Amino acid sequence: MLKSKEIWLEDRDRKEQLAASASGAKPTYFGYERIDRDQKTDRVIAHFNSVARHYDFMNSLLSFGIHHLWKRVAVKMMNLAPGDRILDVCGGTADLAILAARDVGPAGNVIVYDINRAMIQAGLHKVANKGFASRIGYVQGNAETVSFPDNHFDATMVGFGIRNVTNMPRGFEEMYRVLKPGGKMMCLEFSRPTFAPFRWLYDIYSFYIMPFLGELIAGSRQAYTHLPESIRMFPLPDELSDLLTQIGFSRVTYRNLTNGIAVIHLAIK
Ligand SMILES: C[S@@+](CC[C@H](N)C(=O)[O-])C[C@H]1O[C@@H](n2cnc3c(N)ncnc32)[C@H](O)[C@@H]1O
Repeated sequence: MLKSKEIWLEDRDRKEQLAASASGAKPTYFGYERIDRDQKTDRVIAHFNSVARHYDFMNSLLSFGIHHLWKRVAVKMMNLAPGDRILDVCGGTADLAILAARDVGPAGNVIVYDINRAMIQAGLHKVANKGFASRIGYVQGNAETVSFPDNHFDATMVGFGIRNVTNMPRGFEEMYRVLKPGGKMMCLEFSRPTFAPFRWLYDIYSFYIMPFLGELIAGSRQAYTHLPESIRMFPLPDELSDLLTQIGFSRVTYRNLTNGIAVIHLAIK
């Protein structure tokens, strides 16, 4: 049976892993697997190629639909204004972008910035159905080198994506760079449930049921094993707050959702 302490990294290991991600050190990790750093981005692209077609459905199934609520809460907390210009890093199938597009109105603009074309394409019909095609634009690119000038956006956001970026701190540095002074950054990411018995149940669900459903429905047990592994390698909320502060963000706050399964960080440039 699973023991949480064996699958959630120890504090020291998580810190080492974060330092290695930032330093360009080799090797790095893809889930629990140690791989050559040069291979990571290609592995991430292949991973999302394999899940893109089923991504939205699997998200709703595996989270019992709760991810929609988390995303709504996250975008609401950003308090966007009509006319704002927003960057959705690792924007994928555009759920956050659609919510932001509603808030920024016809005078505003949201860019979905994602390295994976299949993921972007999988979200196009949702944007069209909402009538937001004129408010949402797309750039296929790497979050480590965002192709926008400094101080360009009123707000930047990333949902469930920064975990996959090879140099994760670099991704946040880019979100900081392209943000206007005074602008808001929001990160919605998975984390470790705070109540130990609930965490145990969540671990069972993550390592037995998720991969089973991943294989049954999306045809990939491996993709849905990588997902819970990568979550368990990611910095805990206080560690992420420290990282954001080191990068230069101020007024860093976070809010736990569903006992900490997901966490919203907000920060100001
Ligand atoms: C789990 S999905 C999240 C999609 C969406 N934000 C959501 O909340 O549903 C992660 C996304 O990050 C993208 N991604 C991963 N690494 C990236 C990188 N280095 N640069 C840009 N996008 C990346 C993937 O292609 C994928 O679409």
